[in-house]
Amino acid sequence: MPESKMTATLTFDNKSIQLPMHSPSVGPDVIDIRKLYAEGDVFTYDPGFTSTAACESAITYIDGDKGELLYRGYPIEQLAEKSSYLEVCNLLLYGELPTETQLRDFVVRVTMHTMVHEQMHYFFRGFRRDSHPMATMVGVVGAMSAFYHDSLDINDEWQREVAAIRLIAKTPTIAAMAYKYSIGQPFVYPRNDLSYAANFLHMCFSVPAEPYHVNPILAKAMDRIFTLHADHEQNASTSTVRLAGSSGANPFACIAAGIACLWGPAHGGANQACLEMLREIGTVDRIPEYIARAKDKNDPFRLMGFGHRVYKNFDPRAKVMKESADEVLDLLGIHNNETLKVAKELERIALEDEYFVSKKLYPNVDFYSGIILEAMGFPTSMFTPIFALSRTVGWIAQWKEMIADKDQKIGRPRQLYVGATQRDYVDIAKR
Ligand code: ACO
Repeated sequence: MPESKMTATLTFDNKSIQLPMHSPSVGPDVIDIRKLYAEGDVFTYDPGFTSTAACESAITYIDGDKGELLYRGYPIEQLAEKSSYLEVCNLLLYGELPTETQLRDFVVRVTMHTMVHEQMHYFFRGFRRDSHPMATMVGVVGAMSAFYHDSLDINDEWQREVAAIRLIAKTPTIAAMAYKYSIGQPFVYPRNDLSYAANFLHMCFSVPAEPYHVNPILAKAMDRIFTLHADHEQNASTSTVRLAGSSGANPFACIAAGIACLWGPAHGGANQACLEMLREIGTVDRIPEYIARAKDKNDPFRLMGFGHRVYKNFDPRAKVMKESADEVLDLLGIHNNETLKVAKELERIALEDEYFVSKKLYPNVDFYSGIILEAMGFPTSMFTPIFALSRTVGWIAQWKEMIADKDQKIGRPRQLYVGATQRDYVDIAKR
């Protein structure tokens, strides 16, 4: 751990405690409070972890004030423009951009794992047809632990590696199967001659009755969406994966926990919620009503796709996503549909409105991703599964980093207890 020359002194109740500090390669210094309870008999209080670093990590860095996102040091804008999703996966997992041979080998390894165990098809059939694809994904990804017994031992490095590759390779297949199942169409097997993104489009949109040709521009846009969502340091779902993994749970169970957390509308579920909100607003003339509701403290309504815990500037992913949206809509000849008009006007108003400006509420990645995904033909219920399959590599890279970390302990927060103090049981007849 990188020690800092500085220390912090905490003074309270006539006690003074010296706390070591650590300097990151970039970002704010960190006060190490691990000995605080032992030496000071106090806990710290930080619901929502707004000021707490829960781990050491070398994978992703965000500067929320600058609006900067780096994967292993490389800016997201450069990766989105020049790289590909599987190269980014390789980078996130192993720390460096691969050579041509390393990348070819990685692509082959992932591609050879795209099919799921045939028995899993029957597992899908246990779900209701109208299940949300996220519900199906939580169940099926968790059930991978029942199908892949040879990659469950977290203490075996080779098994951890196989589990990582399996998860990256199979989550698109599982997401596509969840979609096909929900619309009553037959499952489509993966095609290993296609790229990762093109194969996903093929599994979602082709049917056995006729040929399907993947549009390369749409495949490129899909690949970029995957790249933009690949990792985002210690967000809620990643922290969930780490917490689940800290107990020694197997990787498939941990990723299923991450998918469950991602589903919420304050996190990955915001892309679905955002598009539904745009549809609900319906026409540009109704925007002021919704802006007023978003500002009203007594109304729980929030503008979906706006605001972020870390970004207090434009979300850099949103900038790239917006460019991609323009490309895709141009390609598909969608210029003036009502949802798009509402989105553009809402963005314009919110970026000028004093409430949103003063609170630094900018459009986030979810504001634009739904617009592209809808144009590509995905129903809103598939937006969060697409986020989940893209984020799988980030979750698994963070999980692997945690398992290899010598300082790793089971995650176990403390609490500020405000309940009853000890009291004697009262017999039911006397209550
Ligand atoms: N609409 C209206 N007001 C908002 C919004 C919004 N979207 N987001 C935050 N605010 C206001 C809050 O009411 C609060 O106001 P106050 O200081 O007067 O009480 C202030 O801005 C700060 O908001 P917090 O909720 O404290 O910020 P936090 O960091 O906890 O929340 C979050 C971040 C959850 C993303 C929030 O901005 C939100 O709910 N946004 C809408 C959902 C969304 O788009 N989520 C996607 C996030 S990105 C991702 O997961 C990929």
